[in-house]
Amino acid sequence: MAFGFKLSSAWSYDDGDIETNRSANPHLSDLVAQRYSRRQALFGGVSAIGAATLLAGCGGDDDGPALSVSAGDSVTTSGGRMVNLVGGVSGGTATASSWTQVSGPPVALTPGATGDTVAFSAPNVASATPLVFRFSAVNQAGPANADTTVTVNTAELGFAAVAKSLADTVTVPTGYSVTVLYRLGDPINAATSAYANNGTDTGFSARAGDHHDGMSYFGLAASGAAPDPANSARGLLVLNHENITQLMLHANGPTTVNGARPEAEALKEIEAHGVSVIEVSRAGASGAWSYAQGSALNRRITPNTAMDIYGPARGDASLRTVFSPTGIAGRGTINNCANGYTPWNTYLTAEENWTGYFRRTLGDAAARGGPTAKVNVSLARYGRSDAATQAAPNGPQGNYGWAGVQAADPASTLFRKWNITSVAGAPADGTGDFRNEIFQYGWIVEIDPFNPASTPRKRTALGRMNHEGAWPGRFVAGTRPAWYMGDDAQNEYIYKFVSTAPWVAADATGTDRLALGDKYLDAGTLYVARFDADGTGVWLPLVFGLGPLTAANAAYSFSSQADVLINARLAGDALGATRMDRPEWTAVNPANGEMYCTLTNNSSRTTANTNASNPRAYTDLKRPTGDQVNADPPSPPSRTNGNPNGQVIRLRETGDTTEATAFIWDVYAFGSGADLNRDNINLSGLDDTNDFSSPDGLWFSRAQNAGGTINPLVWVQTDDGAYTDVTNCMMLLGQPGRVGDGTTRTITNTITPLTGAPTTGTATARVGAVPGTKLRRFLVGPVQCEITGIDSTPDGRTVFVNIQHPGEEATSVATLASNWPANQGGAAPSPTGARPRSATIVITKNDGAVVGL
Ligand code: FEO
Ligand code: CA
Ligand code: CA
Ligand code: CA
Repeated sequence: MAFGFKLSSAWSYDDGDIETNRSANPHLSDLVAQRYSRRQALFGGVSAIGAATLLAGCGGDDDGPALSVSAGDSVTTSGGRMVNLVGGVSGGTATASSWTQVSGPPVALTPGATGDTVAFSAPNVASATPLVFRFSAVNQAGPANADTTVTVNTAELGFAAVAKSLADTVTVPTGYSVTVLYRLGDPINAATSAYANNGTDTGFSARAGDHHDGMSYFGLAASGAAPDPANSARGLLVLNHENITQLMLHANGPTTVNGARPEAEALKEIEAHGVSVIEVSRAGASGAWSYAQGSALNRRITPNTAMDIYGPARGDASLRTVFSPTGIAGRGTINNCANGYTPWNTYLTAEENWTGYFRRTLGDAAARGGPTAKVNVSLARYGRSDAATQAAPNGPQGNYGWAGVQAADPASTLFRKWNITSVAGAPADGTGDFRNEIFQYGWIVEIDPFNPASTPRKRTALGRMNHEGAWPGRFVAGTRPAWYMGDDAQNEYIYKFVSTAPWVAADATGTDRLALGDKYLDAGTLYVARFDADGTGVWLPLVFGLGPLTAANAAYSFSSQADVLINARLAGDALGATRMDRPEWTAVNPANGEMYCTLTNNSSRTTANTNASNPRAYTDLKRPTGDQVNADPPSPPSRTNGNPNGQVIRLRETGDTTEATAFIWDVYAFGSGADLNRDNINLSGLDDTNDFSSPDGLWFSRAQNAGGTINPLVWVQTDDGAYTDVTNCMMLLGQPGRVGDGTTRTITNTITPLTGAPTTGTATARVGAVPGTKLRRFLVGPVQCEITGIDSTPDGRTVFVNIQHPGEEATSVATLASNWPANQGGAAPSPTGARPRSATIVITKNDGAVVGL
């Protein structure tokens, strides 16, 4: 809300120096000199001058009577909101006027619409704090001042909850605006044509990829290719392209020729994966955002881009292929889901569901030593036993069948690398085929967005898994920093990497950014989390030789630290880590260092295998929708058993330090429909304003603005299939409390199968303080999308969000389910309308306040 000040409570100033004889004007030069000297006497040395103006022209009527000025009524606001100060002048014409701050936490005053108006974004404060501002005006008769007081309270949510929605549009609260910034296929250099969006486009290494996901904004210096972490008007937006909606990329969907994918189609699909780096800027302080199509900093990184391998697994025998016989370099990153960042201005991208892209032919396990051979134990633990491959959705081809492409250039290995079947007669060390290619995936990859020529580095010290992201804890000089990570598959673990190198604040401005990555990300300790029933937990170190991580381990004989990191899941098994409900994103509260992790859902959770941190197992009924409703007889509700709605867990490190090896924990919020049983399922008491399902994307506002201080805002994004009979996926905004602020409850779980008897069990749930009005739905997305990926400008007044795969369930390009974003603004989806496109959107508050406040 903006505050317009009325011209009441006028406080006039009259020093008695009134001149009425207009016939005796001084010479112009004298007049100007006098004005400047008076103005400087009035305002010199005062900080935060907002809008000093020199009025009147030559020989103007500036020798009028003494002025009356007003500064408006005193008002109350809260952190992050915009305040407009409106000065008033009466009784004459001022020769100069200005606003200055008299007391309180300093703010930056920016000019408003008129010379007597200024605006500022209220700072966040721990308790009610007065800020006093003075409006001053002067004419030949002398100066006049008036003061006003703005009392600022602690930041609070500044919007009414958005209703659940099945509409094909992005909905945000009243008072907020959405624009579309960067869509699938948008060109990122001057030579590439606009996207036709009809399946004929090519050249995706110079276009936006598909399935926008994790994203970070890096402020860009006015001088060009250097960071300016304070710049909220120009930056590099770096975002992941996790996957593709294959149907929409081709004129009539994907094709095969004699059972093989055409090379051009496969190349397009491959290049639509990866990462984008794009330059974005704002037109003026409050204008529209756009990306610079011709920026030299724009870059696409794809599954074909050269990569270097760093950390303990660099050069390991199990990473060697015919393309990279030394195992120190490779090619490509894929299924980049969530993200992370470093304070030295690099981007971290996470390789998530990479396993399924690889073909592995039945019989390969026998050819490579049988089921107990280490390589086969490893491949099976990561979902790529040769039998599992045959059962995968795309059968033995691997996702999208790229391994079967017959490249026009016989020497090309761009497609062959997707087949990890060992070639009969090839060297057993893997240097003659691509049997080891899959071990080059599953890593956190560091990218220097400010150097388009740099080669990304895979940071193997952070372990190999279905990486969701790598979010850092707080950086404290002299303390070893940490990055928190989820492994997103059913019953997988939560990890933390703690660097060996204590943080040196000066490194934040280092210019050899990837060398700083070497310093902090190549040596350290990877830990896996065990959550105990009493609300405590421990970080178990994945260190070769410690505990069970030796050659004597029965399930898998570890041979080195590289072996432990490449097989982090097997190490977590041996250490007794807690099997979680699919750990997705991690985020850290910048005010207190508490770490949050979304546990999205888990269909294999049963009443018999719940634990305190994953306590729910129940049956979710999903009402029939669309054609199912009109069927005769109508379709019955479908059921999902297990934990269909997910939860957000959080932990507080002992001593509030990233170096801790123990923590306490609870659950911030349990996902649920508002109508479900509050004793056993809707444990957080969600209502119509904040009920959600399958939390996935997760973020805290930046500490650089009011949203990220005192009581920071947490943003929760959903990737849901359970509640989509009621609403499209969404984003919520909350002000959470702290670990341990809630209650411990005993719940009864019941799973009711379609046939047979229900199963029941009990569990202890540690439920954070009920979110209530401190958690609200902020955004609902278009049909069949996922909301994922978020960052803001440093000032928090622009938020970037990704809308992933709208309309992804269409089975034909002739029967589209969504036309978003072409129809953003309210048009209903048309089966013959524009094809849907994943896209980055920009959200601003219309009055310029910090988004959400
Ligand atoms: Fe890419 Fe686990 O979501
Ligand atoms: Ca995700
Ligand atoms: Ca997900
Ligand atoms: Ca997804």
